[in-house]
Amino acid sequence: MTIHKLQISGVRNLEQARLDDCGSVNVFTGPNGSGKTSLLEAIYLLARGRSFRSHKPGAVINHLATRCVVFGALADGTSIGVMRGRSEQQLFKINGNPVHAASQLADALPLQLIDAESFSLLEGGPRVRRQFLDWGVFHVEPDFLFQWRRIQKALKHRNSLLRRGKMVDSELAPWDSELVLAAEAVDAMRATYLRRLQPHFLYLLGELVALDKPELVYRRGWPEESGLAAVLLKDRQRDLQHGNTHSGPQRADIDIRIGGRPAEEVLSRGQEKLLACALRLAQGVLLHELTGKTCIYLVDDLPAELDLARRQALCRQLAAMRSQVFVTATDPQSLQGCWPEGPGTKWFHVEQGQVSACAPP
Ligand SMILES: Nc1ncnc2c1ncn2[C@@H]1O[C@H](COP(=O)(O)OP(=O)(O)O)[C@@H](O)[C@H]1O
Ligand SMILES: [Mg+2]
Repeated sequence: MTIHKLQISGVRNLEQARLDDCGSVNVFTGPNGSGKTSLLEAIYLLARGRSFRSHKPGAVINHLATRCVVFGALADGTSIGVMRGRSEQQLFKINGNPVHAASQLADALPLQLIDAESFSLLEGGPRVRRQFLDWGVFHVEPDFLFQWRRIQKALKHRNSLLRRGKMVDSELAPWDSELVLAAEAVDAMRATYLRRLQPHFLYLLGELVALDKPELVYRRGWPEESGLAAVLLKDRQRDLQHGNTHSGPQRADIDIRIGGRPAEEVLSRGQEKLLACALRLAQGVLLHELTGKTCIYLVDDLPAELDLARRQALCRQLAAMRSQVFVTATDPQSLQGCWPEGPGTKWFHVEQGQVSACAPP
């Protein structure tokens, strides 16, 4: 998927911004506070229906506006529009037709973000890694969303019974068996996905940085040797005490290990960033291999934490993916020699919310 044209209005300090002919690589440079991250935020809104910086619906809307709108025309002719108003108001459209779920936007425009929060893939809790894993499974397994929603529904009902102290088997058992069925389906999809991802990840990581025996180990959320049905039954008393379901696919995680030890214990910040990049790039490669789709990469402050050789290695891999890339940096010189020269690489200067095309450094 490639964005051809982009129109942004009322996203943070971008009162009006327009890109009429996006390249395959689009580099945005400008001083701090000029609107570079906001530009990536606008593209993210188009692909996910929400911001990556704030959960408050109003935060992304320009102080003087009542709503923000992002419109994108894709190279394949698809058009996407996203409007968000203050409070909960929102409207998503694909080819002029309203769509209700943000998952439909995600499906139309697969997108990966690499920003300062990328470290949380290693340092953060399991939720971040689960979201990473599920992004991939969602895009390659048509049945995933249905099964994932079944899990959420079963957990909601089960936890609500637990919180009300209901231990009646006839009430809990149907939700247990619903949870088990959907969990087994999701577990199989996640395990397969991670197995397929691993070789791409190892290859890309090797191109970016030399690390001792990197590996990804999938944790499904309940003990390997037990069936989930038996675990739920065994844990019922404890679940009742906590009003929560302790084991299950909602606890899945990925152990990221280097030389047998947790990656976050042994890597420097720069190495962590490269590892997170290798994971996200591998997802794009696998997406393309399995579906023929490409995903868009947003890389905020690409030079941060990386020396010139690593920046160049990362840009080389991004350019080799044949995915469209939108990157930001404060200083254009910091990305000199990183991108292929030619009409596919476009440079933009951002200043006080104004975006304008400029010459390469
Ligand atoms: N809701 C908003 N309305 C208007 N301006 C905002 C809003 N939220 C943030 N800003 C301002 O937008 C500017 C651009 O921020 P940002 O995109 O993070 O800059 P950059 O990434 O270029 O450093 C900042 O000066 C910030 O104060
Ligand atoms: Mg920024």
